[in-house]
Amino acid sequence: MRSITLLPAFLATAFAQTQYTSTQSSAVAKARATALTESPTSNVAGKTFDRFVAISNFQWAASQGITLTNYLAITHPSQPNYVAAVGGSTHGITDDSFQRISSSTKTIVDLLEAKGISWSEYQEDSPYSGFEGSYVNQKTGSNDYVRKHNPLVSYDSVTSSTDRLAKIKNFTMFDRDLSSNKLPQWMFITPNMTNDGHDTSVTTAGKWVKSFLSPLLSNSNFMQNTLVLLTYAIGIVAFDETAAQSGTNKVFSVLLGDAVPVSAHGTTDGTAYNHYSQMATVENNWSLGNLGLGDSTAAKFY
Ligand SMILES: *[C@@H]1O[C@H](CO)[C@@H](O)[C@H](O)[C@H]1NC(C)=O
Ligand SMILES: *[C@@H]1O[C@H](CO)[C@@H](O)[C@H](O)[C@H]1NC(C)=O
Ligand SMILES: *[C@@H]1O[C@H](CO)[C@@H](O)[C@H](O)[C@H]1NC(C)=O
Repeated sequence: MRSITLLPAFLATAFAQTQYTSTQSSAVAKARATALTESPTSNVAGKTFDRFVAISNFQWAASQGITLTNYLAITHPSQPNYVAAVGGSTHGITDDSFQRISSSTKTIVDLLEAKGISWSEYQEDSPYSGFEGSYVNQKTGSNDYVRKHNPLVSYDSVTSSTDRLAKIKNFTMFDRDLSSNKLPQWMFITPNMTNDGHDTSVTTAGKWVKSFLSPLLSNSNFMQNTLVLLTYAIGIVAFDETAAQSGTNKVFSVLLGDAVPVSAHGTTDGTAYNHYSQMATVENNWSLGNLGLGDSTAAKFY
């Protein structure tokens, strides 16, 4: 029940004069010193959920494309998911430690190159192209670019080739490739540990997505019948603890870009997808064949 008190008109006027709208620093300091803060909690059981959280920036992304409501990660933690997304298997990796996968193990890169399809990775705050370590913010020392979120760098079949290493780039290069209209046909883009929400929050990640993607959606150097798969921190379950506890591992994912018809914007797709679906989709689209691993059986988006 909600209680509403009506103030006599003259009192309402007096209160209206003390609205806390001033942004002058002295006014802000004064108001802050006396501002009332409440942190109510409750535990009222609902019919189908007990907490509702609306996150506007992700809603923005969903409004621009198709939300995949049944997209599952392969495993925990992040690194084996990234590895799987380009290699069709976790190749036995179960943790985030420094890993190398034998040079005889193929990836999506072998299939792309066999058909002449250009590719690149863009990893925010990697210090230079082909860097194979992890890198902290030089001023704050906090985790910034991390190897475990770079899907191809664990594969020796990629890092043993100077030509391939040269395509593992940072965002400086993304900006340059974008402005010179030299983006490849296959890209994997990973923001840093702040912007991907790993060390921060879903809200921070959502803000990054909007600031990074919204200009691209109208950039003709980017949108060239382009299908963008947006996944939120691909091995981390931050949204759905219940799902995590019951053993599923749902990943917030949206398909966007000018390859998605406008009529499908704001819709959902409940097909069971996973990280191998990324490969299956690309392999199907360009008739690449497959690696005979998880990619050969996964459902494709298109
Ligand atoms: C990104 O990589 C390029 C190419 O190696 C390098 O010149 C540039 O300094 C790097 N940018 C940052 C911010 O580290
Ligand atoms: C990540 O990049 C953003 C800019 O996009 C920057 O503000 C932030 O400091 C970076 N995070 C780290 C840990 O350096
Ligand atoms: C890839 O997909 C695009 C658009 O979805 C389509 O026009 C094209 O024919 C596909 N390519 C192949 C080889 O199937």
